[in-house]
Amino acid sequence: MASQLNTEKGARRMDRPIITVQQYILQEQQHFPGVSGEFSWLLSGITLATKMIQAKVRRAGLTDILGSDAQVNVQGEIQQKLDIYANNALLHCLGVRDSVGVLASEENDEPIALRTSGRAKYAIVFDPLDGSSNIDVNVSVGTIFSILRRSEASMAEGGDPLEGLLQPGNKQIAAGYVVYGSSTILVYTTGRGVHGFTLDPSIGAYVLSHEHIKMPSKGKYYSINEAYRDDFPAHYGKYIDELRRQKYASRYVGSLVADFHRTLLKGGVFLYPPTADHPNGKLRLLYEANPMAFIAEQAGGAAHNGTTRILDLQPKSIHERTPLVLGSREEMARFAECRPT
Ligand code: AHG
Ligand code: MN
Ligand code: MN
Repeated sequence: MASQLNTEKGARRMDRPIITVQQYILQEQQHFPGVSGEFSWLLSGITLATKMIQAKVRRAGLTDILGSDAQVNVQGEIQQKLDIYANNALLHCLGVRDSVGVLASEENDEPIALRTSGRAKYAIVFDPLDGSSNIDVNVSVGTIFSILRRSEASMAEGGDPLEGLLQPGNKQIAAGYVVYGSSTILVYTTGRGVHGFTLDPSIGAYVLSHEHIKMPSKGKYYSINEAYRDDFPAHYGKYIDELRRQKYASRYVGSLVADFHRTLLKGGVFLYPPTADHPNGKLRLLYEANPMAFIAEQAGGAAHNGTTRILDLQPKSIHERTPLVLGSREEMARFAECRPT
């Protein structure tokens, strides 16, 4: 069905019908018996917050939103003003969704228990602004989120609202990210494939632009911060040398969301190995590795911590870090061959 849009210059065929992310979610929900509109209402909290964030990102040089706030977060990292703005936007927009019981953010030391009511079925963990070091130099940044169902015990009267937050990634209900790049794109999965929506500023809506994204089985890029190469376990260096011999090119943005989005669409491999500064890896398991691993696998790729599937790791703390290797099937198989037995 291609709707006609009549203008003064006569009929102009639209290339494709406009399907917003809300419409798409509602259509998808018909496949989930018993799931009411609460998921689409919850997702609308995320899309609203990311529209607020992207409006700030797009005007960063014109408003006093650049630079650091000189606060240090739980990660020991200087918070950028946009980190704090993005965090507040998500806390506000999700805090008013009564299906959300708990929020956990990279920027908050502790999780935030919002409500214990029986309706508050979901916990959301998020990285409000990923790639903060790139904000001031106009390089793509992003937002990453993961949605979990809360445990019965945490919802029981008098239960600990934070109980059961530390679930392995294979329990995620949904995961996604927004990359604030040359365009603003939302990519998410609910376990039924991976779909992308581009923000159309002329109508202020995320419009379906990449349905059923599949990661190519092989790419031509590898993505790693080679400055730390001397710290990597030896087999990582061996692996990279093998890829270079096969004429792979190197691409590294320094924003996980941007490096992941390219790997999702073009294939290849992204690695953040253990380093001297981060012997357990730098990336956070709950709100960086898990959501990206869920999306990678749903698109036909794979993700592990160097040895174990990311989605099978049992988190021990909210801000736990992990090494991360993710990408196309062929590159991931090559990595396994380089791994010491
Ligand atoms: P964040 O800005 O949320 O702290 O995340 C930054 C992460 C991730 O986006 C990126 O892949 C990685 O840091 C880059 O680290 P290096 O600068 O050490 O390469
Ligand atoms: Mn991050
Ligand atoms: Mn961040």
